[in-house]
Amino acid sequence: MTICNEKKYHERKNTGITIRLMELQDLHSVFLLGEKLFTSEFTPNLYRTWDEQELVSLYLGDEETCLVAAKGKRIIGFALGTIVYKTHSAWSYGYLVWLGVERAYQREGLATRLFNQFRNVMLEEGVRMLLVDTQADNEPALKFFRKVGFGNPEEHVYMTLNLTEKQKQRKVKAKLSHKAKSYIKHNV
Ligand SMILES: CC(C)(COP(=O)(O)OP(=O)(O)OC[C@H]1O[C@@H](n2cnc3c(N)ncnc32)[C@H](O)[C@@H]1OP(=O)(O)O)[C@@H](O)C(=O)NCCC(=O)NCCS
Repeated sequence: MTICNEKKYHERKNTGITIRLMELQDLHSVFLLGEKLFTSEFTPNLYRTWDEQELVSLYLGDEETCLVAAKGKRIIGFALGTIVYKTHSAWSYGYLVWLGVERAYQREGLATRLFNQFRNVMLEEGVRMLLVDTQADNEPALKFFRKVGFGNPEEHVYMTLNLTEKQKQRKVKAKLSHKAKSYIKHNV
């Protein structure tokens, strides 16, 4: 396929898809789409931090920086971000926190459309730098971000501390204390 034909193909596949601001009634669909995309198998860090609270706070924080791609009533993509204002600085940063496109619609230029719109919103808001982050092995995302102009990758390490054992110990302690209280109540 020549580049020219490829572009036409992208345009054709993109027909009937609109990029618009996320609305309250989209939250559930966006959440479910995120659950399908940010899986524990492929992107464990993203999987752990994607939840309803996160989505609602982004939406309530700034509706202008939360966009969706919709085909009719169906939500097939999203770009959700926020603006970080620094006190004592003229700089503000546009942080693209979550970006996702339903698998069946990937590689059709949809994330590019979402991103272009997101960048326009940020430009209008006077933002001077955009930020993104993702897992170091998330190749599709890294390639995408490079393609739309991001550079200067800096390493950032996520660490985890598993609290399962501590939780179990707490439960045992709580049970013992409950038993002790009940023993005292009935026998002392
Ligand atoms: C990353 C993601 C949003 C890209 O969405 P998309 O709609 O497929 O992206 P586009 O079609 O606009 O791609 C633009 C360019 O990015 C690069 N790219 C996108 N997906 C790629 C992939 N799977 N492999 C290699 N390059 C890829 C290509 O250079 C592509 O241009 P081309 O198709 O002309 O070669 C999508 O893969 C996704 O939803 N991934 C899961 C969620 C995620 O990891 N989000 C990012 C972190 S929050």
